[in-house]
Amino acid sequence: YRRLRVALLGAGAVGSQVASLLRQHADELADRAGATLELVGIAVRDLDAKRDVELPHELFTTDAETLIVSADIVIELMGGIEPARTYLLQAINSGADVVTANKALLATHGPEIFEAADQVGAQVYYEAAAAGAIPIIRPLRDSLAGDRVQRIMGIVNGTTNYILDRMDKEGAEFAEVLADAQALGYAEADPTADVEGYDAAQKAAILASLAFHTSVPLDAVHREGITAIDKGMMDAARNAGYVIKLLAVCERLATTDAEGTPAESISVRVYPALVDREHPLASVHGANNAVFVQAEAAGNLMFYGAGAGGVQTASAVLGDVVSAARRHIAGGVGVGESTRANLPVVEIGQVTTRY
Ligand code: NDP
Ligand code: HSE
Repeated sequence: YRRLRVALLGAGAVGSQVASLLRQHADELADRAGATLELVGIAVRDLDAKRDVELPHELFTTDAETLIVSADIVIELMGGIEPARTYLLQAINSGADVVTANKALLATHGPEIFEAADQVGAQVYYEAAAAGAIPIIRPLRDSLAGDRVQRIMGIVNGTTNYILDRMDKEGAEFAEVLADAQALGYAEADPTADVEGYDAAQKAAILASLAFHTSVPLDAVHREGITAIDKGMMDAARNAGYVIKLLAVCERLATTDAEGTPAESISVRVYPALVDREHPLASVHGANNAVFVQAEAAGNLMFYGAGAGGVQTASAVLGDVVSAARRHIAGGVGVGESTRANLPVVEIGQVTTRY
């Protein structure tokens, strides 16, 4: 097999598992990719930090830039905006394909990164950037490209679902379960992103952009988190036959323009909602996620699985690495993001709070 050099940026909850699986399943991955995927280095901040899995010390470096220019495929799992943005752009401009799980970056600088990739014929893979292990990016971008998506509704943040679920089932305290979610590797480096709904809003912006072939800016997403939810509210919801879930709702709306001509716009919103205990979303427990997609021709589709967690997310990342390797071997060209619809996003807040 031809040898492809893979650089990994970050060895935290997800990165360490990606490195471990890349090494553990090297032969199988080579057969599937048609290329040997050689992990040539791992960039981190602290060379001596304890890792979740054992990895050869000589792979670690603090010099991300030198690592990037030597790679065919760069996997970014550091999180945050900078230096992740700069490193991804450097990787793209040096001819690498890139894989990232960084929804914060894509929801804020996606157009810049996709455009940079288009200009040099590189590809950006980001299946892990929404709903962890669940395949949802490719279904929206590729499988449903011939249909018209009307609505996406789901639970897209594992940490908040884990917290709300334990508050509901055990009457647990918010702070105590948040600490557990952090220890389990579900939460963002700054868990405010999870509990205040920023992470879900970033994912909703990414999903809506793909589903409606437009570019949804993050500040157009209505966002509410779960920090105001207390035990009393959980009890009241339960007594009324509901459970509280943090939902992301992305909808195509039939509106009219200034002249009264029928037009379309979209609404993207994230907020805690009352979900009927009989509704399938009510039985999404722990850090699992579920995404319902309603499309004109396909009808209703449902995607379910682990929404967070290092090894689960590593599955989605490695799928992207195999895709990147196959494309590299085939000498393929990038598939640009389709944002031609240019639909306006309207702010309508909490339209339906019960499902
Ligand atoms: P962690 O915080 O656990 O790990 C981050 C890693 O990046 C660490 O190894 C850290 O190095 C390294 N890093 C951070 N900043 C720098 C820098 N400036 N230079 C070099 N290395 C740096 O994050 P996760 O693994 O949880 O998440 C990674 C990405 O995946 C994020 O974008 C996150 O949103 C996304 N994601 C996470 C999921 C999860 O369940 N955890 C699920 C889906 C997506 P060091 O260890 O030395 O500090
Ligand atoms: N912190 C995120 C979550 C990780 O809890 O869903 C997965 O994107």
